[in-house]
Amino acid sequence: MASSLLFRIVLLTISSIMSIEAKEFAVGGEPSAWKIPSSNSDSLNQWAEANRFQVGDYLVWDYDAKKDSVLQVRKKDYHSCNTSSPIAVHQDGSTRVRLRRSGAHYFISGVEGACEKGEKLVVVVISENHREGFQSSLSPAPAPAEFDSGSPAMAPVTGGVSTAGRGLVGAVLALLIGGSVVGLVLV
Ligand SMILES: *[C@@H]1O[C@H](CO)[C@@H](O)[C@H](O)[C@H]1NC(C)=O
Repeated sequence: MASSLLFRIVLLTISSIMSIEAKEFAVGGEPSAWKIPSSNSDSLNQWAEANRFQVGDYLVWDYDAKKDSVLQVRKKDYHSCNTSSPIAVHQDGSTRVRLRRSGAHYFISGVEGACEKGEKLVVVVISENHREGFQSSLSPAPAPAEFDSGSPAMAPVTGGVSTAGRGLVGAVLALLIGGSVVGLVLV
């Protein structure tokens, strides 16, 4: 009983953390930006480089389904603008893709010649390790001076709290992996 309650609390915590952290990115930063860019400085990759993507975030494309499409492709096919063997084809005019893993994700237009003219996108998703490092850096370690000259009774308390905090972050991150498996079953 107690453990099933704990399990439900953990699940709720994980799902709320995931929903808080998952972001939706309109590709290009505005509706209908999936098109041949007018210049290099206007490119979709300039937009992508200015953003920070995490596992679980979504990319959203809006475009005219009669005139365009979104192909997710491998690195090699991205660089050669090869539309013949995509990993996934989206042509519904309103495409939503979840970024399920860290690393680079490659997208090109399915329209003949459009990729060559710059209608393409690389999105690099930062890794979990990166994110954990980012969170740890938010809670600075106590300065050495506190241990040297401060009250000895206070030092272990400060250390204890920050260790517990870091342990919690670690536990939540570890559970995210297991939680997403359970989440898949629940969703
Ligand atoms: C495109 O990719 C396909 C499948 O990988 C390959 O057979 C074809 O030669 C490629 N075309 C070009 C122009 O590279």
